[in-house]
Amino acid sequence: MTIQNILLNKSELTAQDIVGLLKCEGSELKELYAKSAEVKKTFVDNIVYLRGLIEFSNLCRKDCKYCGIRKSNINVSRYNISDVEIIHAAKFAFENRYGSIVLQSGEIKSRAFTKRVTNLLDKIAEMSDGKLRVTLSCGEQTYETYRQWFDHGASRYLLRIETTNKELYYKIHPNDKLHSFEERIEALNNLKSIGYQTGTGVMIGLPFQTYEDLANDLLWIKQMDIDMVGMGPYIEHKDTPLYQYKDALLPLKERFELTLKMIAVLRIIMKDINIAAATALQSIEKMGRERAIKIGANVLMPNITPGKYRDSYRLYDNKPCTDENPEDCQSCIEWRVAITNNTIAYDEWGDSKHHFQKIR
Ligand code: 5AD
Ligand code: FES
Repeated sequence: MTIQNILLNKSELTAQDIVGLLKCEGSELKELYAKSAEVKKTFVDNIVYLRGLIEFSNLCRKDCKYCGIRKSNINVSRYNISDVEIIHAAKFAFENRYGSIVLQSGEIKSRAFTKRVTNLLDKIAEMSDGKLRVTLSCGEQTYETYRQWFDHGASRYLLRIETTNKELYYKIHPNDKLHSFEERIEALNNLKSIGYQTGTGVMIGLPFQTYEDLANDLLWIKQMDIDMVGMGPYIEHKDTPLYQYKDALLPLKERFELTLKMIAVLRIIMKDINIAAATALQSIEKMGRERAIKIGANVLMPNITPGKYRDSYRLYDNKPCTDENPEDCQSCIEWRVAITNNTIAYDEWGDSKHHFQKIR
């Protein structure tokens, strides 16, 4: 079957169809991107929502084999931004009319941490008169903790599955209780059942990953009825165990293009979800995120972490914007979005249309 036939005539794509799309090139690739851009325009319009990203702590109890801030990496200087600084950053987002923020950290699991985040949610609601939407991205937590945070105003949660191939999962994570594949899926199901707009995603171009794995990832995301997705290229970090496979990886440019193809196919199979243009794209190509927006992504997450901490939140090598400050990012995103012929939706929450479609 030709790519054109797959794109125009099939309502449900199979894993095999998706593999075909992920491998296409030249004029067929142009057709794929034209189709995904058209679906984006029709279902979510050429609008970009902003989420100010605050990476508030790089303390982490886990040891994911790809991640620069893994517990065993002693070369990282650990930080934990004060509540005052976090609220200050949230205020910056609010005053610059972002509509929403993401509070992200390494995985910390304790009563004190649960309480701290709860308290932060209260303070942010107070500061913004309940007008700033808050997304959390603080790893796997108990049902009760997720519930408590939801009750205190967090409405969205990001927890990437990283890969849906269980075997591959245990190649990129330690094979132990702390990194259980099943528990990660359970956490996602808990988030969904509590009523969060639930976000997940995978890394693209991991060592040992196949096209079939990636096709299955997309079908799994659809089957889980996910509301928001952030997917980015895997980028090796020299202080991590997976670095040893660096010579077996796809070249960076190919990982980049494959990520764009994944975004395009996802937009075609899940038309009304929110898809983020991952920061990791920008570390490969200066205009990487803009290309993602053109072909299907509709969310940008400008980093509003206070500049002095950014260097220590290096999940991968060459992470962009680590020597910038929130003000620099503000003027930067304006022109970046303008060149994609999209419009920034200021003062809007930018909820996932998909989420409200299904609970209606
Ligand atoms: N390359 C790309 N993405 C990474 N992440 C962590 N380490 C890397 C890496 N080396 C991503 C993971 C995680 C998110 C916060 O950052 O997908 O869920
Ligand atoms: Fe921190 Fe993976 S290393 S959650």
